Amino acid sequence: MNRRKFLEKSTLSTAGILSTPLIAGERQGLESGNSPNPSSIDLKPIVIATWDVPNATEKAWSVLQNGGSALDAVEQGVRIEEADENNQSVGKGGRPDRDGNVTLDACIMDKDSNCGSVVYLQNIAHPISVARKVMEETPHVILAGKGAEQFAYSQGFEKEELLTEKSKQEWLQWKKTAQYRPVINIENHDTIGMLAIDGNGDIAGACTTSGMAYKIAGRVGDSPIIGAGLFVDNEVGGATATGVGEEVIRTVGSFLVVELMRQGKSPQEACRTAVQRIIEKNKDKLDFQIGFIAINRNGETGGFCIHPGFSYRVYSGKGHKNNPSSSYLAK
Ligand code: GLY
Repeated sequence: MNRRKFLEKSTLSTAGILSTPLIAGERQGLESGNSPNPSSIDLKPIVIATWDVPNATEKAWSVLQNGGSALDAVEQGVRIEEADENNQSVGKGGRPDRDGNVTLDACIMDKDSNCGSVVYLQNIAHPISVARKVMEETPHVILAGKGAEQFAYSQGFEKEELLTEKSKQEWLQWKKTAQYRPVINIENHDTIGMLAIDGNGDIAGACTTSGMAYKIAGRVGDSPIIGAGLFVDNEVGGATATGVGEEVIRTVGSFLVVELMRQGKSPQEACRTAVQRIIEKNKDKLDFQIGFIAINRNGETGGFCIHPGFSYRVYSGKGHKNNPSSSYLAK
C-alpha cells in the first residue's frame, strides 16, 4: 500500500467534513467570522510559536530581552516544551511509535540560511539542540537515527528514557485496537514551531516534534525537513507548520509561505494561500489538521489552519497573547 492510500484507509472519515464542498467550505470559513487576523507589529524583537505555549514564548522573549540572538531565543524557547513531560507531542514524554519507541524530529535555521536537522532520534531529550550542533559542528544538514544519536553523545548529550509512564500506558491501551488515526488538534498541541526576530532585526526558526502518535517505525514527518516544517529567509521572513506532516511535505509548505511573502503577500495571506493549496490537493478528505504561522521582516505575523482549534502565541513589545487562528472550515 502506498503512503497516500495508507493515510486514506487509516484515517477516519469525518461526516460533514468530507462532504463539505471546497467552495462552500471556504465560504463557511469566511462567513463564520473566521476573518483574517493579521497583527501588525512594528516593535521588535518578537517571538511567535505554534499553539498556546506561554512558557516557551516567555523563555524566548527573555532571551531576546537580554540581548540574545533570534537563534538562541528559538532554541531556548522550544526546549521548554521538549522538557515538559505533559506535552505528549514533543520531546520527553512524547507519544511513541507503534512499537513503543519515542523517536524525535527537529530542525533549526538561522539568518544566514544555515540549518541543521535530526530525524528519528532516540534517547535524547533535546533534539533541537542536537540539530543546532549538526548545523554548527558538521558540514551536513541532516543526521538520522543511530548516527544522530551517536553524534549527540559525542557532543555531550546524555542518554535518557523518553517514554514516560503516562505515554506508555496510553500506548498499551492503543495497542488493544491498534487503530491508526491522527487526531485533529490533539491536546491543542502537536509540533512546536517557533520564529523570532532579534534586536538586530535578524530572523531564526526552530521546529520540534515526536511526530504522529503510533506511527510506523521509521516514519519521519515534515518537522525536521527544511522547507516543509520550517523555513527562514532573512530578507523576507519565516514560516513553520503543525499538523499532518505528509501533507505539508507534499507542498513544501513553509517554503511556499515564505515565497508567497516574497511575492508581496502578508504573513496572514501567505499562510491562507498555502493551506488552500493543500486543500485543493485533498478535496475529498479534509479529516486532518494543518496550521501554518509566519512572520515577515517587519514583524507582521499571521496564521491559518484547516480546522478551528489551532492557535499561536505572539510575544512582542505589545504584549504576550494567544491568537486563535483563522480557519478554512467553520466550527
Ligand atoms: N507535524 C508533525 C509530524 O507530522 O510529524
